[in-house]
Amino acid sequence: MTGSQQPFPLKPNVGAQLSPHQIVGRDGTILQARQLLLDGHNLVINDPRRLGKSCMLERLANEPGDGMVVLLRSYQDVRTSTHLIHQLLRQLKQHQGFKKRFAGALSSLFDKASLRVGYDDVTISLAANQQHRRPVDVLHEMLEAVDNALEGEGELLVLAIDEITECINNIANGEGGADEVATVLQTMQQGRKEFRNIRWILTGSIGFHHVIRYGTDTTEAVIGDLKNLPLGPLSREDAGFLTHCLALGIDRTFSGAAVDAMFTCSDGIPFLIQALASGIRDSTTSQTTVTAKLVEAAFATYISDRDESRAFEHFVSRLDTYYPDPLRSRAIKLLDHTSQQPSTPLTKVYELLAAGTPSCDKQDAVELLKALMDDHYLVRDGSDIRWRYPILARIWREKQMLP
Ligand SMILES: Nc1ncnc2c1ncn2[C@@H]1O[C@H](COP(=O)(O)OP(=O)(O)OP(=O)(O)O)[C@@H](O)[C@H]1O
Ligand SMILES: [Mg+2]
Repeated sequence: MTGSQQPFPLKPNVGAQLSPHQIVGRDGTILQARQLLLDGHNLVINDPRRLGKSCMLERLANEPGDGMVVLLRSYQDVRTSTHLIHQLLRQLKQHQGFKKRFAGALSSLFDKASLRVGYDDVTISLAANQQHRRPVDVLHEMLEAVDNALEGEGELLVLAIDEITECINNIANGEGGADEVATVLQTMQQGRKEFRNIRWILTGSIGFHHVIRYGTDTTEAVIGDLKNLPLGPLSREDAGFLTHCLALGIDRTFSGAAVDAMFTCSDGIPFLIQALASGIRDSTTSQTTVTAKLVEAAFATYISDRDESRAFEHFVSRLDTYYPDPLRSRAIKLLDHTSQQPSTPLTKVYELLAAGTPSCDKQDAVELLKALMDDHYLVRDGSDIRWRYPILARIWREKQMLP
């Protein structure tokens, strides 16, 4: 889209819901996702927060291309496996052909009112003769009914489940605990194997591997069949296009160097590009042409302003939630250290962790490194470790009051 398209005015939108036309770039990722789905793969998108996962899915759902319907729904608030079934039904009801195609096939599982379309908040309940059954059995049968209804229609149904890791984490912390989560994940995996007319895209900003390793009674094999769809930040070209659109939206002209600075300062993270444009719009300067210097000043203001940059607070706070002690204190120690270096030799990492209290042996250090890599904080570069996104290391230093 960006290659031939002319920039159009876009008002900065920092973190709120975007309509599909406001979501720019990602053409390559969308094509890749489509091809992988058509080839029979199920996908996982596991990038850190604010990288634009939901936006990319929104565009894919809006322009899925021939032979494919993509239904997108957030599972963030799902807390039990029964609730998960309800959410899946709501998601299926987003399909334009729900009434004709699926309502009949699902009528033995849900009560009649639940299958009515148009009232998203209608209370959903299972049919009376289903209520004693294990929710995962109902889930399996539900998917089977949908798959059968799609047979011979020449249409793939893609269920894009946003924030699945939060859902998994919620269920793990609820009554059913780790055991219930394991059954849900196994049932979902079984469904992926069995039902050929349905594909899945699972997305979450907490590392999936991490949640499974520390919160459930199962192993990472339950997601081993999913293909990773790397999203990453916007390319330089897409980031430039977004900057040009935002420049029109805030009625400013950006010099070539300023466009480059928007990319360099943000590391291509679209949320930051939006935040910088918003900061520049609100700055008191009378300059109409935005220079690289002005972009850098807006960036410095943004990351040092605790309220403005609160969206990134989770890089610090989520360790409290997802890393049980002593993992947490070790993680903080390692992240503090590595955020202040361009890269850190692995030997130094082991040394640093071994010197902590309680001391950390080599195997525990390897486990910690794996968790921080799966969670996208760190990457391995030969025999060194470094932050995946230098900009996030800088934000970490700011949040942790480090020099
Ligand atoms: N392709 C894009 N075009 C324009 N703006 C974007 C794009 N992608 C992301 N953004 C900006 O970044 C913000 C965050 O994007 P999004 O909600 O998709 O991220 P996310 O990875 O799903 O984050 P989270 O993990 O917190 O759910 C959006 O509200 C918007 O301001
Ligand atoms: Mg999201």
